[in-house]
Amino acid sequence: METVIIKIKNTEMESQKAIQTAGEVIRSGGLVAFPTETVYGLGADALNPQAAHKIYEAKGRPSDNPLIVHISNWEDLGKIAANVPEQAKKLADKFWPGPLTMIFEKTKAVPFETTGGLKTVAVRMPSHPAALALIKAGGGFIAAPSANTSGKPSPTQARHVAEDMQGKIPMILDGGPVGIGIESTIVDVSEGIPTILRPGYITLDMVRETAGEARMDPGLSAGDVNIPPKAPGMKYKHYAPDADLILVEGASRNVQEKINSLAKEASKAGRSVGIIGTDESCCNYQYGIVKSIGTRKDEDTIARHLYGILREFDGQGVDVIYSESFSTPGIGQAIMNRMLKAAGYQVIKA
Ligand code: TXA
Ligand code: MG
Repeated sequence: METVIIKIKNTEMESQKAIQTAGEVIRSGGLVAFPTETVYGLGADALNPQAAHKIYEAKGRPSDNPLIVHISNWEDLGKIAANVPEQAKKLADKFWPGPLTMIFEKTKAVPFETTGGLKTVAVRMPSHPAALALIKAGGGFIAAPSANTSGKPSPTQARHVAEDMQGKIPMILDGGPVGIGIESTIVDVSEGIPTILRPGYITLDMVRETAGEARMDPGLSAGDVNIPPKAPGMKYKHYAPDADLILVEGASRNVQEKINSLAKEASKAGRSVGIIGTDESCCNYQYGIVKSIGTRKDEDTIARHLYGILREFDGQGVDVIYSESFSTPGIGQAIMNRMLKAAGYQVIKA
């Protein structure tokens, strides 16, 4: 299959045309990759079981890992969610369109192929104008996981999508680099206290402030293997580069010293080394290929560059990557959640 990549800008006539064409592909049961404000998505008609099935095939995704249904207006939620609690209304009012996904009890309209066999459905209204336009053109309900091969870092640029999906899907809409760079926050509102199943740009405090109460899914904490995570996708190795990724944690001077000594040893042993530092620390590293992921003064920059940097290191054929850690209460929590998974929980304390 030939994959067509079409550049889009929000206002131009040509872009409108491209989005209409993409909408037709979706309505006829095909796949289209498209930009959202978080990461690129791989879209299909969420209400068409065969179309949803194609997503699993293209990604090589386990069929018990449910998809997020993307909508473009509030009225459509009632068609796929059987029950919308008051707290969910408040959250939608505050954060939609935007990087928030909520889990509801599903209606019959949503096939089990889309929900990985679950009786609940994940729903998000993205804020990216091209995504909203495509959802409208595609019939209103687009199932879209991140547009990467299952297990790989999520795509934050169209060329990342092409790396993984070239030849497997008919169309990629190229809207340039995304704004946030990390997938949406997932909040389960289907029973009791709103529960964060996947941290993201919208933090626990933000959810709490709006919904009155909220908690983290106990299955999210890395140490406890006895409680399975409630979002099925969170149990798989994920976001991972081909290289071995190792996180180093501690006071910044100690971290830099530790990474230097680890990098020196690995280089001596003949391994090709990558180092993830920040604008503040990069000049202190002496071995291997050193990249800055962003500045600690603005952790949004770190979220935005995380997946791209992992893919760059893979492109350079690095064997092992040593990275600094990030664990502040804001977006740092989501960054660390993704990094720990990408590293398979390999953490060295400095
Ligand atoms: O930002 C995002 O959410 C991106 C963009 C494209 O919108 N999409 C995305 O989808 O990250 P995906 O498939 O890569 O991640 C969806 C996550 C998985 O961990 C899945 O297990 C969880 O959502 N999920 C979906 N439906 C669920 C449900 N009914 N109950 C619990 N978890 C669910
Ligand atoms: Mg994903």
